[in-house]
Amino acid sequence: MLELKHIGYDVSENGQDKEILRDISLTVSEGELLVFTGPNGGGKTTLARVIMGLAQPTRGQIIWNGQDITNASITERARLGISYGFQQPPRFKGLTVRDLLNVAAGDKPLSKDKCCAYLTQVGLCANDYLEREVDTSLSGGEVKRIEIATVLARNAKLMIFDEPEAGIDLWSFARLTDTFAALHGRSDAAMIIISHQERIISLADRVIVVGDGQLLHSGKPDEILPEILSDTRAGCPVLERGGV
Ligand SMILES: Nc1ncnc2c1ncn2[C@@H]1O[C@H](COP(=O)(O)OP(=O)(O)OP(=O)(O)O)[C@@H](O)[C@H]1O
Ligand SMILES: [Mg+2]
Repeated sequence: MLELKHIGYDVSENGQDKEILRDISLTVSEGELLVFTGPNGGGKTTLARVIMGLAQPTRGQIIWNGQDITNASITERARLGISYGFQQPPRFKGLTVRDLLNVAAGDKPLSKDKCCAYLTQVGLCANDYLEREVDTSLSGGEVKRIEIATVLARNAKLMIFDEPEAGIDLWSFARLTDTFAALHGRSDAAMIIISHQERIISLADRVIVVGDGQLLHSGKPDEILPEILSDTRAGCPVLERGGV
């Protein structure tokens, strides 16, 4: 369904090229739930941005159902069925939650019941939120959950969620993991979830550890989780050398 071939992404920093992604090759199958995890700064969000078309890879090719989309715009990719929920979602002054859900769903306006169903999936009550503006009056966790609801409303073939757990309380997080599990069970849509949470990692068909701009490990949750836990127990190389 989605194929990344030798993706590289460089940025220019102080006049020098810095390699953020290095030779990443990956295939995502229909209906697959993939979790990207790994250290801060490892390249997970950049990889998601490259898939969505928010960043243009320096090297490599992106194939979507046999079509080369390496140079396709974000709008074109969205039309083809790829959808992305930001790690830090933007706010939209002047637009209500209902507006955003309608824009996401496309074609015809959603009924209140349908809006309510999407909001319930992320633990929000439509009566309280539907007519609220998505401005600074909403809390960080509320904006994050509204963003996730808009990704769900897009009905995409590939949904990418960037740290959906970030800033979300435990009750809503439990609701959200149930939503991901149910979606995975009943739909042929693929999901890439970027997450540090054991509970989300354990839902995955495949977990990929992204670090230093590369895919470091890949496997089933029960193979990868012990590796992650042993990694986090390893010492800090700087401290082990005896100070900075
Ligand atoms: N435009 C840019 N210019 C310079 N450095 C960049 C740029 N974009 C990304 N980076 C760097 O690339 C690395 C990967 O960033 P990225 O946001 O993809 O990490 P991440 O794995 O999502 O981390 P986190 O878990 O903290 O969200 C970081 O070191 C970041 O500072
Ligand atoms: Mg990130």
